[in-house]
Amino acid sequence: MRRLRFLPAAIAAALALTAAPLAGAAERRIVTVGPPVTELVHALGDGGSVVGRDTSSHYPPPVNGLPDVGYMRALSAEGVMSLAPTHVLAIQGAGPETTLDQLRALGVTVEVVPETPTLAGLLDKVERVARLLGREAEGRRLADSLNRDLAALAAVAAKSDATSDATSGTKDGAPVVLGVVGGGPGGLMAAGSRSVPAALIAMAGARNALDVERDYVPMSSESVLAAAPDILLVSRSLVDRSGGLDQLLATPQLALTPAAKARRVAVVDGALLMGLGPRTAEAVAELTRVQGTSPQGQP
Ligand code: HEM
Repeated sequence: MRRLRFLPAAIAAALALTAAPLAGAAERRIVTVGPPVTELVHALGDGGSVVGRDTSSHYPPPVNGLPDVGYMRALSAEGVMSLAPTHVLAIQGAGPETTLDQLRALGVTVEVVPETPTLAGLLDKVERVARLLGREAEGRRLADSLNRDLAALAAVAAKSDATSDATSGTKDGAPVVLGVVGGGPGGLMAAGSRSVPAALIAMAGARNALDVERDYVPMSSESVLAAAPDILLVSRSLVDRSGGLDQLLATPQLALTPAAKARRVAVVDGALLMGLGPRTAEAVAELTRVQGTSPQGQP
């Protein structure tokens, strides 16, 4: 096994005992990175094998008692290795890649789960993680229940769009939703058509405000004003970091939008914007609820 210079001797010694991939569920020590992956492993009944998680993974509640290896895009090999994992299960986008390579070089089995922001992508993700864990039957059950929940929400959305078309006389009464994320150094970012928020917006039968083939783009006031979103989709942590909803809506990029003026905002757990997973229907339901409110904010 190649040792990295910075790795403390005690950790390297622990690794020599644990780094080989282990087949037995009882011996697995998994670090999960990215909320969708953490939540899937638990939903599939393998939470007992998890020894660590990333900062944004805080559901189901027991994961808060596990060591935190840092933000999913800024992992350090040292932090992860201190937990002597046999496996790292990470969502696509986790990294940096150099850290994942270091972990592999140290003998950890690193599995990166694709994040394809569509319903098919979600179902594929469930199946993939279930297969990795040897829990295929649980995977099929979970996929069935997600399919059912999301189909029920799609039916509600289709009905309300049809009603809206009838009353507005337009062909496409779907409201326009702008996904806004922020947490990293780049400031506020708007969700393009390849993002997770765009998938949630589509599942809620609404229209993504920014028709750009990107995941996120820096948010300029011009592009947002031109998109004229009826509704905003944001994370609870962004609202908190802004000092509250009033302060967030008062930011120059958002203040003049129809959504901010009417205070039509779907606020969801930030974890639900970081990838599709077992709780995706919660975010879609919140968006559906806000769509059911009138532009005056009345139900
Ligand atoms: C490809 C670039 C990135 C994308 C697409 C991205 C995306 C996201 C998303 C969707 C969220 C959750 C929603 C929210 O809280 O608004 C988030 C949260 C966050 N991001 Fe990033 N991010 C990126 C890069 C970074 C970088 C480079 C850092 C800093 C090292 C960073 C730090 C954070 C933090 C601290 C949070 C809040 C974490 C939490 O409360 O769980 N992000 N990011």
